[in-house]
Amino acid sequence: MKKSNHDSAHKHVTGEAIYIDDMVEPTGLVHAYLGLSEIAHGKIIEMDLSAVESATGVIGVLTKDSVPGSNDISPTGKNDDPIFAQDINFYGQPIFAVVAKTRAQARYAATLAKIEYEQLPHLTDVLEARKQSYPHVTEPLTLKRGDAPTTLEQAPKRIQGSMRIGGQDHFYLESHIAMAIPGEDDDVLVYSSTQHPSEVQHMVSHALNVPSNAVNVKIRRMGGGFGGKETQSNLFAAVAAIAAKKFNKAVKIRPDRDDDMVATGKRHDFVIDYDVGFDEDGKIEAVHANYAARCGNSADLSGPVTDRALFHADNCYYFPNVLLQSEPLKTNTVSNTAFRGFGGPQGMVGGERIIEEIAYALGRDPLEIRKANFYGTIDRNITPYHQTVDDNIIAKLVDQLEQSSNYQNRRDAVLEFNNKKGIIRKGIALTPVKFGISFTATWYNQAGALVHIYTDGSIHLNHGGTEMGQGLNTKVAQVLADEFQVDLDQIKITATDTEKVPNTSATAASSGSDLNGMAAANAAEQIKERLVTFACKEHKVEKDDVSFALNTVNIGDKSFTFKEFIHQAYMARVQLSAAGFYKTPDIHWDRASGKGRPFYYYAYGASVSEVSIDTLTGEYQVDRTDILHDVGNSLNSEIDKGQIEGGFVQGQGWLTTEELWWDKEGRLRTHAPSTYKIPLASDRPRIFNVELADWSENREMTIKKSKAVGEPPFMLAISVLEALSLAIASENDYKNCPRLDAPATPERVLMTLERLRGERNA
Ligand code: MTE
Ligand code: HPA
Ligand code: MOS
Repeated sequence: MKKSNHDSAHKHVTGEAIYIDDMVEPTGLVHAYLGLSEIAHGKIIEMDLSAVESATGVIGVLTKDSVPGSNDISPTGKNDDPIFAQDINFYGQPIFAVVAKTRAQARYAATLAKIEYEQLPHLTDVLEARKQSYPHVTEPLTLKRGDAPTTLEQAPKRIQGSMRIGGQDHFYLESHIAMAIPGEDDDVLVYSSTQHPSEVQHMVSHALNVPSNAVNVKIRRMGGGFGGKETQSNLFAAVAAIAAKKFNKAVKIRPDRDDDMVATGKRHDFVIDYDVGFDEDGKIEAVHANYAARCGNSADLSGPVTDRALFHADNCYYFPNVLLQSEPLKTNTVSNTAFRGFGGPQGMVGGERIIEEIAYALGRDPLEIRKANFYGTIDRNITPYHQTVDDNIIAKLVDQLEQSSNYQNRRDAVLEFNNKKGIIRKGIALTPVKFGISFTATWYNQAGALVHIYTDGSIHLNHGGTEMGQGLNTKVAQVLADEFQVDLDQIKITATDTEKVPNTSATAASSGSDLNGMAAANAAEQIKERLVTFACKEHKVEKDDVSFALNTVNIGDKSFTFKEFIHQAYMARVQLSAAGFYKTPDIHWDRASGKGRPFYYYAYGASVSEVSIDTLTGEYQVDRTDILHDVGNSLNSEIDKGQIEGGFVQGQGWLTTEELWWDKEGRLRTHAPSTYKIPLASDRPRIFNVELADWSENREMTIKKSKAVGEPPFMLAISVLEALSLAIASENDYKNCPRLDAPATPERVLMTLERLRGERNA
């Protein structure tokens, strides 16, 4: 397990790291700002932009008629995501952009538009959408094994229920931004804060009606993406590029935080209806569940997101008979998109609610119900999508955490504390995670890298992945340092660039280091092979006599510094540059039949959280969290721990304080930190113990046998929700499952307590 700092850690803290808005601005740079709709559904009858155009500093405006190519940036090719809308489908939809000398001038001018609309009825809620037969934004998915309906009829016990799970704003520290610089002919260079430079390249090329080879997209780093910059960057890049070509000036666009929150997509909220059959011991016999998602006004990534909700509905549990259906509903809200876990967290929360229901019905500790239903290792190991779980370590992981966190004694203490019937109540829960690694769109699982060694022995590293804070570049640089046995500072990490590595996938699905690490290793191997062949010939030795030690190359009984050796190779005309490639083996997925092996492997984890709630106000705090997480053979234990801590706290925010709220007009009213509460440093667990399962190693041939870490820890926060639920349940002596929905804001905790008080007195 290596420990190296994130390559930019120091620069992040001192403010020296250069984000797009920090770059030295090109001469004559101008600024664009978006004009947003002020209705949720309707048509534009008349648009008068004369006041906008004549405002101080304004250079010009862009509308749908200014788009030289296709006015669409839909990632799925569904043609349902206009750059500039004519038909309005949500409040805050971009209609036009204004370009001015300063950002303040553009921002002000954007408020001067006079737009006349014909309003149509709108709706923002999933249940309302279902009632009014609003369309699906994409084909629903069904996963099926065995006969769930019949088994449910015959099961010894059966519970039906429903759960609401809220969405989430990404709240990356750096909001969306793009800067475009026009070149000669059709050329344009776009700096875009994006997780998916290749897609930005394609979208800009379609919008400008030029081939992809005219568009170059670059990104050194994002100030956070979290899935929010997988597709949502397309809009800003397209607007900047169109304006740059139209006015032949460098153009930057950076929305205010409020506009970023209103006009770009978020995590999908879900309504999950479940029906579970089980026996007296709490063993599940059948699950039938429906997953309705608020997709917003277009498809975007809602297809794969709602698919992934179904893929994780089982979490760590074997469902002998199962029928799961997704319901990706259209609503008149901003189109929801990728967010850490990509639908998986919502599906998993539903699965854990089912466990809770069984536990309360039988009067047992939910942990016992979990253990009774864990996937087996020899049998009981087929998922609802017919993939065999063949790397299952959840039982061992949970046992270890149960011991190390002293779970049993602490649970006893919590129950005893609550028996005193004080105003403060406590709760504790241990919840597991199993998360599937790979893009379910199989072709996405490929990556490229470009490695040069210069004659002074310094190394230039480029790959298709993007850095958003997760430490990908450090990990990939470590892989190269290891291959060539040189110090990490010999390797120059460079901006992701569509001219260096083409046709890349989004850095997403937690697969950045799996894919790009392997591609970089492949490039290094090619160069090393040439170097070894050269050494053998030059020094008349066998392959086995050549070895790379730290900054040194040993050839027979001679020894050279890496730098000396590289210079020799250059003089002998050895090619010191290579393009690497990797594709994930052994995965396949047939959506129509709902069968396949969509995931290369699973990452596991578990957490125990203990909370205290104030039963008079609903306020609470997380007293302690213990985490044991599986990253296989860690590439970098410090970075991995950072991902686990950050993922957990982000998950905690999602399930507790972060609440999105739309008013009757369809306006998002929680569009700033004043109304949307992300966790503060003071909200983190008071005691926070994070350990890696250091005995775990990936069974598959991933880079150094590591496992992906980006998303899985997010779902460890489910223990906080369930611990809150236990504290609430004490109000009625644990007789009813509190059916606590998410987010469990203090308000919702209080309302749930009130409901239980009502049930107690009934
Ligand atoms: N960590 C930081 N600091 N910032 C981010 O934006 N995004 C998360 C996760 N961790 C994110 C992060 C998401 S949604 C994903 S998919 C992975 O990082 C992507 O990076 P990886 O594949 O290199 O792990
Ligand atoms: N995860 C994240 N992003 C994606 C995926 C996925 O499975 N598929 C397409 N984009
Ligand atoms: Mo992460 S939601 O796959 O960008």
